Amino acid sequence: MLIRSHDNGFHHPHASEITPRSAYLQRRAWLQYLAGGAAAAALPVRAAGVERPGKLQALAATASQAAGAQTMERVTAYADAAQYNNFYEFGLDKGDPAKHAHTLKTRPWTVRVEGLVQQPQTLDIEALLKLAPQEERTYRLRCVEGWSMVIPWVGYSLAELLRKVQPLGSARYVEFVTLADKAQMPGLRSGVLDWPYTEGLRLDEAMHPLTMLAFGMYGEVLPNQNGAPVRLVVPWKYGFKSAKSIVAIRLTEREPGTAWNKAARNEYGFYSNVNPDVPHPRWSQATERRIGEDGLFAKKRKTLLFNGYEAQVGQLYASMDLKKFY
Ligand code: MTE
Repeated sequence: MLIRSHDNGFHHPHASEITPRSAYLQRRAWLQYLAGGAAAAALPVRAAGVERPGKLQALAATASQAAGAQTMERVTAYADAAQYNNFYEFGLDKGDPAKHAHTLKTRPWTVRVEGLVQQPQTLDIEALLKLAPQEERTYRLRCVEGWSMVIPWVGYSLAELLRKVQPLGSARYVEFVTLADKAQMPGLRSGVLDWPYTEGLRLDEAMHPLTMLAFGMYGEVLPNQNGAPVRLVVPWKYGFKSAKSIVAIRLTEREPGTAWNKAARNEYGFYSNVNPDVPHPRWSQATERRIGEDGLFAKKRKTLLFNGYEAQVGQLYASMDLKKFY
């Protein structure tokens, strides 16, 4: 994404510059090949209900029936999903969040739901966990940097929570505010973003059944580095819309500012829908590298409009010029 350089300008390194994974991945691919992994890799993988890694507390869920909530694509290895992260509050390198996020205290934790709602409330995380049945949904996550993963999330539709607080007629947007605590988050010293990290959605996007409040992944509670104890997941948008470690959800009349839009207005728009036809000003968005497939013989994949969720979400943007509202 974006790193402030010494002269106070911005330097956007390519993902591979931030963390040189290729050497590590090539070695791993070779080791897997030697261990018979090449044959195993060809077997179909159950999209949902993947084995839980047994590292964290289990989080029971049923497979979601929502349209688009399951995929037959191969699920990304837990080790990749939990060790190749963007969570700038814990550092800029992909490995930093896994190394440093142990300082994040996820209990006690509350989430304020406020702004233009009839029933504003502050929910304790335990109450939020029980607000609706936990479901497992396996979504593609496409990062604006050009890589993607397939992750089985556990949570429920954000709409479940929004319906409980009853948005007022004047509410048109939803702002997500995440934790910014210097005592727990060493990355806040960097000033690379205007903390706290915030994100936003139009109310109809926020109410879409695929928009998820996630509490877990791979059948367990979220590892801290993936946004514990609660994060957003919006599968048809670039990964940076999926705010981690949320402390407030605010309904507003006006479009809220977002962390990346404030940092580089001409590079990151409010919508940030995955779109192969709208390049980032300094690199293409036409293809992506699927993490775990970038070994010896891997080819890049073609990026799909709305990250492949066009059937489910295309109508939200029916009359919009997607080049203008990027
Ligand atoms: N949320 C917060 N609070 N801070 C961040 O730096 N990074 C975003 C998003 N949510 C970020 C965040 C970006 S750029 C991406 S691609 C996804 O989280 C990455 O999620 P993952 O590490 O679970 O794959």
